[in-house]
Amino acid sequence: MTTPLLPGHPHLAYRATPSGQDLYLEGVRLADLARAHGTPLFVYSRQAMLDALAAYQRGLASRLAQGKALICYALKANSSLAILQLFARAGCGFDIVSGGELERVLAAGGDPARIIFSGVGKTRAEMRQALNAGNGAGIGCFNVESEAELDVLNEVATGQGKVAPVSIRVNPDVDAKTHPYISTGLKGNKFGIAHERAVAVYQHAARLRGLKVVGIDCHIGSQITEERPYLDALERVLDLVEAIEAAGIPLRHIDLGGGLGIDYHGDTPPAADALWHKLLARLDARGHGAKAIYIEPGRSLVGNAGVCLTEVLYLKPGEQKNFCIVDAAMNDLPRPAMYEAYHQIVPLAPRTSAQAGGTVSQLNYEVVGPVCESGDWLGHDRVLAVQAGDHLAVLSAGAYCMSMASNYNTRGRAAEVLVQGEQATVIRRRESAADSFRHDILL
Ligand code: LLP
Repeated sequence: MTTPLLPGHPHLAYRATPSGQDLYLEGVRLADLARAHGTPLFVYSRQAMLDALAAYQRGLASRLAQGKALICYALKANSSLAILQLFARAGCGFDIVSGGELERVLAAGGDPARIIFSGVGKTRAEMRQALNAGNGAGIGCFNVESEAELDVLNEVATGQGKVAPVSIRVNPDVDAKTHPYISTGLKGNKFGIAHERAVAVYQHAARLRGLKVVGIDCHIGSQITEERPYLDALERVLDLVEAIEAAGIPLRHIDLGGGLGIDYHGDTPPAADALWHKLLARLDARGHGAKAIYIEPGRSLVGNAGVCLTEVLYLKPGEQKNFCIVDAAMNDLPRPAMYEAYHQIVPLAPRTSAQAGGTVSQLNYEVVGPVCESGDWLGHDRVLAVQAGDHLAVLSAGAYCMSMASNYNTRGRAAEVLVQGEQATVIRRRESAADSFRHDILL
């Protein structure tokens, strides 16, 4: 018998065993992986990623069928090569934000023509790298974020004897209603070009020999859980599209960015298919049915496909708080420390009520890591019946965890495993301490 854990985690479930229950991801018992590969350990479900992608493919089906839609996975969410390979094979393009990400996509077999390059601070070297990718054919599009960047890109492209395809990121000034650190579409943000300046900036771009204007771009924030900000942003962007085209500059594509949220803890973001049906209907209604649509989803493709397994090292009862000290820390899972983010934490083998009421008491814990910072916490006020040696899973750990992990406290980064049915494949080996100081040079 299986008990699904959460609506947002269809491939994660407890299965009954003679001694209790065990947590499985697809057909793989997570406790077996923790024992075989050690902890902390990231484990991802291949099917969960493909299902998440399928929702976008359904939503965009009418445009995809005409070759007029491109789903560019924003690999900053999780940039492991095997995951990029999975999305490349499923037909995705990629949204990159650095030369390093470009190298990753190419190493994973991604198609340079399906790469778009976002980011406010592209260097000249990165521009050259992108212009020359794919044996000189270059990437699909540069999403330019400032007037100064337009001029530099023009200069670099001209110097290389190339013409850079560009779209300009406009700031629609809508409130994505998300955490201030991950809200990007408001006037006060560093991203994009102000709505009022957009037509003038497009006119300037159209005059530059080293650039070819191909599209328009916006991205209003991340972990968005309402459809309204998307609908509002679309109207604002379409107003600009019409003004830019009226100024004699045709646009081939509209890129509406990423940002769709996931269910971390009772969050109810719109489903990708329903959202895109609505957005496409608006595009058609305003007469833009022939334009290609690009999107840049990151978190919503991978976030709830992954968990991070960790072992309870010590229990430390206190007068004010009980601490559950685990072997994963802020260097592995930076989101709680950075954004006070909530990740569910569940046992791999929950104790039955008799066990929990017997020798192991159910207590309210601060779940913390070993790093020497009070900010190194993974969960506040979590009710758990655990003992040292037990394993826990931190949920929704597929996005912005491993890709933001660091070596702080000289902790090697965790290993990663991808599961498919009953099969588990290591897709990244655990880093050793020596790996983390291999570039250091002794006096
Ligand atoms: N496109 C652009 C231009 C972006 O800046 C981002 C994310 C995305 C696409 C993908 O957004 P997504 O679909 O993943 O929401 N570290 C933070 C999230 C930072 C998001 C940065 N930009 C977190 O852990 O919540």
